[in-house]
Amino acid sequence: MDNVHVDTHPIIKDRLTRLRNRETRPKNFRQYLADIASILSIDATRNLPTLDKKIETPLCETQGALLNDKTPLIIPILRAGLALSEPLSELLPHADIGHIGIKRDHDTHEPVEYLNTLPANLDRPIFLVDPMLATGGSMIAALDILVQQGADINDITIITLVCAPEGISALRRKHPTIPVYTAAVDSHLDGNAYIVPGLGDAGDRYFGTEI
Ligand code: PRP
Ligand code: URA
Repeated sequence: MDNVHVDTHPIIKDRLTRLRNRETRPKNFRQYLADIASILSIDATRNLPTLDKKIETPLCETQGALLNDKTPLIIPILRAGLALSEPLSELLPHADIGHIGIKRDHDTHEPVEYLNTLPANLDRPIFLVDPMLATGGSMIAALDILVQQGADINDITIITLVCAPEGISALRRKHPTIPVYTAAVDSHLDGNAYIVPGLGDAGDRYFGTEI
């Protein structure tokens, strides 16, 4: 699929298998997800612009490059997006973080917005992060909010953990080119719009709120 980057790094394969395992408890779930998020973050930031910078090493002058001075913006879709935003912000400690709270309605599977703490300045690289792209409804709703508030779609990169083909198709119908960095595109959605094989409810497993 165009501009959907599935990272098959062996550490990602290992940690994803451990995450999928129903026996994995929140303490380990959080660590495995953080490991994957770190690798995906490196992949997803590879096109950040840099500026040439001359510096002195202990031996001589040399030409280097630094990230340009546009402060990136990381946007986790709450709750589960926090699992991806923390490792990404370790790599980009100068980034700002804005939150969008969206909860999928249990019966209709439609996204319901409950929080928006986006900053006024959206003219910069934006990383929109959420581990699960199931129907795509939550991600598309977050993109709608960003566009309404003035973000340029070309500045946005999506980082996710597991996608359903149905969610990618829905996203692509509205946003044909936005880059997606992910660890897996799974088989399909079940009758409750859960990703199969998936890993269950990412937020509940991460925060330990499973019934
Ligand atoms: C999950 C997940 C995504 C959404 C994906 O969040 O983190 O936000 O569902 O489903 P969709 O692609 O069909 O919209 P959930 O609504 O369970 O909230 P949570 O993060 O608070 O657990
Ligand atoms: N949200 C999740 O956390 N998991 C799914 O499989 C679908 C939506």
